[in-house]
Amino acid sequence: MARIIAGVAASHIPAVGAAWDNGKADEPYWRPVFKGFERSKEWIARVKPDVCIVVYNDHMSAFSLEIVPTFAIGCAAEFPIADEGWGPRPVPDVVGHPELASHIAQAVIQDDFDLTIVNRMEVDHGLTVPLTLMFGKPKEWPCPIVPIAVNVVVYPVPTGNRCYMLGKAIRKAVESFDKDLRIVIFGTGGMSHQLQGPRAGLINRAFDTRFLDNLAPDPEALVRISHLEYLREAGSEAIELVMWLIMRGALDDRVKEIHRFYHVPASNTALGHIIFENMA
Ligand SMILES: [Fe+2]
Repeated sequence: MARIIAGVAASHIPAVGAAWDNGKADEPYWRPVFKGFERSKEWIARVKPDVCIVVYNDHMSAFSLEIVPTFAIGCAAEFPIADEGWGPRPVPDVVGHPELASHIAQAVIQDDFDLTIVNRMEVDHGLTVPLTLMFGKPKEWPCPIVPIAVNVVVYPVPTGNRCYMLGKAIRKAVESFDKDLRIVIFGTGGMSHQLQGPRAGLINRAFDTRFLDNLAPDPEALVRISHLEYLREAGSEAIELVMWLIMRGALDDRVKEIHRFYHVPASNTALGHIIFENMA
């Protein structure tokens, strides 16, 4: 049986990827950011997942306003790196796990969640930056990845509750896969950030801290946060936090916090990161 053993949440700030790619990780501005992931790198090297499911959002790289899937699952064998305007990031292509991804699609769709099946897709910083933060600069990513893309860019976007329930459905799907795989699920994006308008650069540390504090013991409180509340309290792009709730929904009710890191500002946003292991 396949099992989800742990969850990782991490912001996917594009400037963090650019700093890494351009050799700036040791500069005073960026050093604290990457330092916050040193323990995480050690942890994941120890845990050695067989597969990672990475919940992220596409930023108009693979999708566009022409087609806006609410939830999409990448079932391809490989996902090339998207060119987001400066050429593709110099990181390895992402290798998929078509067998597991197709199984999750089958099981989750039969469980009343209508995932869009994507058989060809480029992946952008939403997926690759958390991989860099967790795995550094390997020649190849250490395990296959199942990408799950969530629309948090074009309204209407899914509710936190829908995301949390999808996480539960993904967990059930994984547990009915007949191969022994140890899986880590990532929820990416967030925390508070507002990229445009007069409130650009808004950071609400109290909101972010409350979110981090509640994620393990009381996710049910977080699923009730409305879109308006995310927008008002933590900025327009803070809505990405609903993707953390997919990760949380896929874990046990009781989880152990392994590591937490919060840093402001990184670029003009707050960077949040947390790792949970299932208690079983
Ligand atoms: Fe994003």
